[in-house]
Amino acid sequence: MKHYLQFKDFNAEEYSYLFARAALIKQKFKTYEKHHTLLDRTLAMIFEKASTRTRVSFEAGMYQMGGSVVHLTTGDSQLGRSEPIEDSAKVISRMTDIVMIRTFEQTKIERFAAHSRVPVINGLTNEFHPCQVLADIFTFIEHRGSIAGKTVAWVGDGNNMANTWLQAADLLGFMVHVSTPGGYEVDQSIAGVRGQKSYRVFSDPLQACEGADLVTTDVWTSMGFEAENATRMQAFASWRVTSSMMAAAAPDALFMHCLPAHRGEEVDADVIDGPQSVVWDEAENRLHVQKALMEYLLLGQLQ
Ligand code: CP
Ligand code: NVA
Repeated sequence: MKHYLQFKDFNAEEYSYLFARAALIKQKFKTYEKHHTLLDRTLAMIFEKASTRTRVSFEAGMYQMGGSVVHLTTGDSQLGRSEPIEDSAKVISRMTDIVMIRTFEQTKIERFAAHSRVPVINGLTNEFHPCQVLADIFTFIEHRGSIAGKTVAWVGDGNNMANTWLQAADLLGFMVHVSTPGGYEVDQSIAGVRGQKSYRVFSDPLQACEGADLVTTDVWTSMGFEAENATRMQAFASWRVTSSMMAAAAPDALFMHCLPAHRGEEVDADVIDGPQSVVWDEAENRLHVQKALMEYLLLGQLQ
């Protein structure tokens, strides 16, 4: 049995299968063709943090594949009343076929997975957001072809998205140019990548964008870090993706943001709402890649 707790849980061959499968699933969705490969399967979704995209994409995706969904939050389950995560895992995984969790520490989802009888998917932790980068790379491939050998500029916080990009670059053979304010650097030991073969650090965000094929950013204050908001607003002031940064990137560079976005903070409106932005495709693709992911975890490679 496989879980999907970090991007590096799959190898390059599995990713190439998933991207091809997601393209097929997307094409069927667009033509209203039924794709009921998960008939009678049940997904449990556990949210300990807020969500719009992850909730809608997993829930709609499971129904579209013929299955059903149970939605739990900390506040309306015993998780919020100190039931041990191990006990919750044993119970929930006896009643459902697959589990998606959005929570705080990565160790929490690892503890759940260790006691689960069914596959567990990371729907975002403080350390990683693998489903989002899965959608982002699928979106890049749709627009520009293979990401191997390309350069992705990461401007902003050394957060869960940044860590996941580092893992993806290491696995799929592309380069990440990372620029964060001092004190918010990526921590190589969290991503678990060796050396700087697949990423380079830049103190100047404009330099990080030079020649990049994709420029991407994220909120300055991630969920769970709200108490640091005022300090972060000051520290990140120069890490806003501007049209000058896009101009420094490759002429056909794309812009991505996992959303939700704050125009005028981490990105200017003319960038996120401009012609290089593919953020709506990126958001939609969460649906298609996660359908491929759930199907793969439950049924293996099909065709
Ligand atoms: N990008 C993303 O995960 O969005 P939500 O927080 O709305 O799920
Ligand atoms: N880094 C952000 C991503 C939100 C989808 C957070 O963790 O809040």
